[in-house]
Amino acid sequence: MNDAIVASNLRKRFISYERIGFIRRRKIIVEALRGVSFRVRWSEVYGLLGPNGAGKTTTVKILATLLIPDDGYAAIDGHDVVKEASMVRRIIGLVLYR
Ligand SMILES: Nc1ncnc2c1ncn2[C@@H]1O[C@H](COP(=O)(O)OP(=O)(O)O)[C@@H](O)[C@H]1O
Ligand SMILES: [Mg+2]
Repeated sequence: MNDAIVASNLRKRFISYERIGFIRRRKIIVEALRGVSFRVRWSEVYGLLGPNGAGKTTTVKILATLLIPDDGYAAIDGHDVVKEASMVRRIIGLVLYR
C-alpha cells in the first residue's frame, strides 16, 4: 500500500521586497523550506509543529497542489503533487486557516 503522504527533500524559496526608502526596494530571498522530508501512513494523525515562519503552511500548500516546490518530491497516495495535481485534488480535502 502507498503511504498516505510522502514528502522528500522539499525546497521552496520566495522572493520578496523590503522597502528601503520612499521608492527603493531591496530584493530578499526567503528560504522557506530547506529539504523537508517525512511520511504519513494511512490512519495516522500527523502534526506539523513549529514557530511562525517555520514553513508549515508552505509545506501543506505544496501537498495540496497550491504551490509548486523548487525541488524535491511529494505524493499523496502515490500521486505526484506536481505531475498528477488534478488526481491529487480529487482525493484530498483541505481547510486552511493560516
Ligand atoms: N508568498 C510568500 N512570499 C514571500 N515569503 C513568503 C510567502 N509565503 C511564505 N513566506 C515566508 O516563508 C517562510 C515560511 O512561511 P510559512 O510557510 O507561512 O510558515 P508557518 O506556516 O510555519 O508559519 C516565512 O519566512 C514566510 O514569511
Ligand atoms: Mg502557517
